[in-house]
Amino acid sequence: MTETTTQTQGTDGTSVHVPLEGRAYDVRIGPGLLPRAGDLIAPLLHRPRVAILTDDTVAGLHLDPLRAGLSGAGIDSVALTLPAGESTKSWHYLTQTVDWMLSEKIERRDILIALGGGVIGDLGGFAAAVLRRGIRFVQVPTSLLAQVDSSVGGKTGINTSHGKNLVGAFHQPALVLADTDVLATLAPRDFLAGYGEVVKYGMLGDAGFFAWLERNGPALAAGDPAARVEAVARSVQMKADIVVRDETEQGDRALLNLGHTFGHALEAATGYSGRLLHGEGVAIGCALAFELSARLGLCPQEDPSRVRAHLKAMGMTTDLSDIPGDLPDADGLLELMGQDKKVIDGKLRFILARGIGDAFVTSDVPRDTVRGLLQDALAARD
Ligand SMILES: NC(=O)c1ccc[n+]([C@@H]2O[C@H](COP(=O)([O-])OP(=O)(O)OC[C@H]3O[C@@H](n4cnc5c(N)ncnc54)[C@H](O)[C@@H]3O)[C@@H](O)[C@H]2O)c1
Repeated sequence: MTETTTQTQGTDGTSVHVPLEGRAYDVRIGPGLLPRAGDLIAPLLHRPRVAILTDDTVAGLHLDPLRAGLSGAGIDSVALTLPAGESTKSWHYLTQTVDWMLSEKIERRDILIALGGGVIGDLGGFAAAVLRRGIRFVQVPTSLLAQVDSSVGGKTGINTSHGKNLVGAFHQPALVLADTDVLATLAPRDFLAGYGEVVKYGMLGDAGFFAWLERNGPALAAGDPAARVEAVARSVQMKADIVVRDETEQGDRALLNLGHTFGHALEAATGYSGRLLHGEGVAIGCALAFELSARLGLCPQEDPSRVRAHLKAMGMTTDLSDIPGDLPDADGLLELMGQDKKVIDGKLRFILARGIGDAFVTSDVPRDTVRGLLQDALAARD
C-alpha cells in the first residue's frame, strides 16, 4: 500500500514528508531556513563539502547567507553561478555544470545544492541525475513557483531547440528547504507568476483552498509571512500527494498540468521570452480551460467567471489581451498545442473541470470547440 504524505507543524516550521519508497524526503517550509541550512543538510553528508549551483540574480541576494549557514555547521562549499533566465536550462549550461562538478571532484556520495528558481532546480537536478550516474541533490527553491511546484516531485531537465523540458530525468531531491523569507526579494511580476501555480492547486483539487486564496491572496502578495507559509505548505502538500500517487505521470499527476496545454502553446508563441512568463501562461491557460469546460457543459458558467475575477483581482495575466505583441491565429495556436509533450497517439490531452476543485484528464475534446474558444479569445484582443 502506498504511504500518504504527512504534514507536521513544529516550533521550527512546517514539514511535508514525501514517502516515496527508497527515496523519501522532507520539504521544510518556513522563515529562516537559509541560516540553518548547515544543520539541516549535515545529516545527509558523508564529508563536510557541498557544491552549490545558482544564478547571478539569486547569488547576489542569497548565496552568502546560505554559505554562512553551511559554514556555521562546518560545511565547505564551492559555487557555480550561471546567468539568470530560462535560456540557461540548456545543453550548454548542463555541460558546463557537469564539467564544473567533475573539476571540483564532486564524488558519487556528495550533494549538489540547487539555490534558485525553477530554472536552476530543473537544470541542477538533471546535472545531479547524470553526474557519475546520479548523485543526490538538495533543492533550495527561491522563487514562489519553485517553492510550490518545481522543487517537489523530481522532474528535472532542460529545453532544446525542439521545445521545453524535452530532455530530462525523474530524480527526486534528498531534501527541499523552502525558506519563505527569500520570497521578499522577488520582483512582483515573478511573485505573481508563481501565484499562478498556487491558485492552480485550488482550481484542480481543493475548492476550499481556492476560497481561502480569494480571501487571503491580497495579503499573500503584500508579504504577510503567515499567509505565505500557509499557501506554500498547502500547495506542497497537494503536489506531494499527487506525486506519491503517480510519480511518473501515468495518471493523476497529469492534473498538475491544468492550464498547461494552452500555456505551453502561448509560451512557444511568444518565444519563451519576457513577453510571457511560465506562470503567466499557466494563469491564462487555467482561465481558458475553465471557459472550455463551461462551453462543453461540464461546469457552470459562474466558474470561469469566478476564476477570471480572482486572477484579475490579484493583478495577474488573465486573457490573451494581457500578452503584448502579435500572436498566431487559432489554427497556429492549435498547431503549437499539438507539439505538447502531453500528446498521446496524436491526440491532445486536456485537463478540464467539473467545477472549481474538481479537474480531470480527457482526450475527448472536439477540435472545433477549442478552435472556436481560441478565435473568440483572440477576437477580444482587437
Ligand atoms: N520540475 C517541475 O516540476 C517544474 C514545474 C513547474 C515549472 N518548472 C520550470 O520552472 C521554470 C520556471 O521557474 P521560475 O519561475 O522559478 O523561473 P526562474 O528560475 O527563471 O526564476 C525567475 C526569476 O526570478 C529570479 N529569482 C528567483 N528567486 C529569486 C529571489 N528570491 N529574489 C529575487 N529574484 C529571484 C531568478 O533569477 C529569475 O530571474 C521553467 O523552466 C519551468 O519549466 C518545472
